[in-house]
Amino acid sequence: MAQEDLFKKLVSHCKEYGYVFQSSEVYDGLSAVYDYGQYGVELKNNIKKYWWDSMVLLYENVVGLDSAIFMHPTIWKASGHVDAFNDPLVDNKDSKKRYRADVLIEDQRAKFEGKIEKEITKAKKRFGEAFNEDQFKETNPRVLANQGKIDELTARFAKAMNDNDLEGLKQIILDYEISCPVSGTKNWTDVRQFNLMFSTEMGSTAEGASKIYLRPETAQGIFVNYLNVQKTGRMKLPFGIAQIGKAFRNEIVARQFIFRMREFEQMEMQYFVRPGEEMKWFKHWKQFRMKWHQSLGFGSENYRFHDHDKLAHYANAATDIEFKYPFGFKEVEGIHSRTDYDLKQHQEYSGKKFQFFDPELNESYTPYVVETSIGVDRMFLQVISASYTEEEIKKENGKTDSRVVLSLPAFLAPVKLAVFPLIKKDGLPDIAREIINELKFDFYCQYDEKDSIGKRYRRHDAIGTPFCVTVDHQTATDRTVTIRHRDTMEQERVKIEDLKRIIGENVSYEKALRSL
Ligand code: GAP
Repeated sequence: MAQEDLFKKLVSHCKEYGYVFQSSEVYDGLSAVYDYGQYGVELKNNIKKYWWDSMVLLYENVVGLDSAIFMHPTIWKASGHVDAFNDPLVDNKDSKKRYRADVLIEDQRAKFEGKIEKEITKAKKRFGEAFNEDQFKETNPRVLANQGKIDELTARFAKAMNDNDLEGLKQIILDYEISCPVSGTKNWTDVRQFNLMFSTEMGSTAEGASKIYLRPETAQGIFVNYLNVQKTGRMKLPFGIAQIGKAFRNEIVARQFIFRMREFEQMEMQYFVRPGEEMKWFKHWKQFRMKWHQSLGFGSENYRFHDHDKLAHYANAATDIEFKYPFGFKEVEGIHSRTDYDLKQHQEYSGKKFQFFDPELNESYTPYVVETSIGVDRMFLQVISASYTEEEIKKENGKTDSRVVLSLPAFLAPVKLAVFPLIKKDGLPDIAREIINELKFDFYCQYDEKDSIGKRYRRHDAIGTPFCVTVDHQTATDRTVTIRHRDTMEQERVKIEDLKRIIGENVSYEKALRSL
């Protein structure tokens, strides 16, 4: 299936099965804002639990925090967000559409990459088994020409971004003849900076009200609580503070469903370390976070690191973990070595000391920070895109059937167990309810008696429910049921009293956490 089609199908599947809805849909929607439905919220909570447990439970020296969204406005001055949290924007004069200049350029680079991919695919077909991809890339003139364009574009782009050279960005757009996807013209305005923070007013009267910002990252709430947590928790370096919460950015180009939103959620951890030890910890967290992603079983070939050419003003090393979404490899998580920049800035602006007395060294210093920052919504999209499968099934009568199945890792699945009475009489619904009443303390269970058993299976395949239990007439006599496994579609007869153990073994977080 073409990746574009897959993406469209994912979006409509999310809507049809109660995972994700457009915000304010009845009023024609609000751009780049989404609501999570009855299954979406469960999956999201499970993703957050897996992240939280892998940070706060597995690491004795990582503790949690839940700081407020509203914070003192000076925090954003100190952090650099008021002055430097900008995107370069450019308008097309004909379509009146607004774009991020950097995104237009990155899309152009992706076009060159796409041309190389096409050459490789063609050559693979032509040469079959004998095809040597590395050799082909090093010698094929068309691949080399496109690679040359990519290298030149990347170098110019990195320089313009590093130098904050807006004219340079516009010149790249003109030189590479980048046109507006809507009007098709190259009639561009100058490139301007656009601050991404939303602001509002706090206070009851216009005179007394002060401008405050909706946080664009949760990290600053951690920095300004560093001393509170360190002192009250008697934390020694190295230690981490983890937080999950909403963040807001007035994204210029909001597209690709929940990939780029104006209201989204982050899971961030700041790890405070001795100066000079930050690279050791940067390496540690880079590896650990990649292992966390790969523990979900979506295939290691679908992940890669992307080390930054352009470092943010506060970082001395930075990498992204990219996942292969249906629209290509894109960032799902960032790992940054942020030096002592943030703590020092807050020290300067607040006048309070953010130092740590290290008893081993017998000296005080401002800690360095290594940050891991992952978007919950991008993680959600990763899980959904990797799990969505369309299958052809051979039936016993020789005919074929098809099904859509969300092969979610069982511990992340919203509903763990669906219980069906074979028919709506003969006391079977009562037994099904009895099973749910017994298991609902451990698992999210659903009762379903509508339609044929086959249709009920399909419904729960599409939701991603790992187990369906059917109560039939034999159940009434011997207290056994059939349990059907989502991925293999195999069924086995088991005792009701064994259900808790069988399901529990399969849906527990423990196995995944132990693998880290
Ligand atoms: N504290 C560091 C920080 O916020 P970032 O790279 O700007 O770094 C971290 O954001 C993560 O937050 C990204 O890797 C991404 O997963 C998520 N994220 C950022 N902007 C987003 C948006 N507009 N919509 C959804 N997720 C976003």
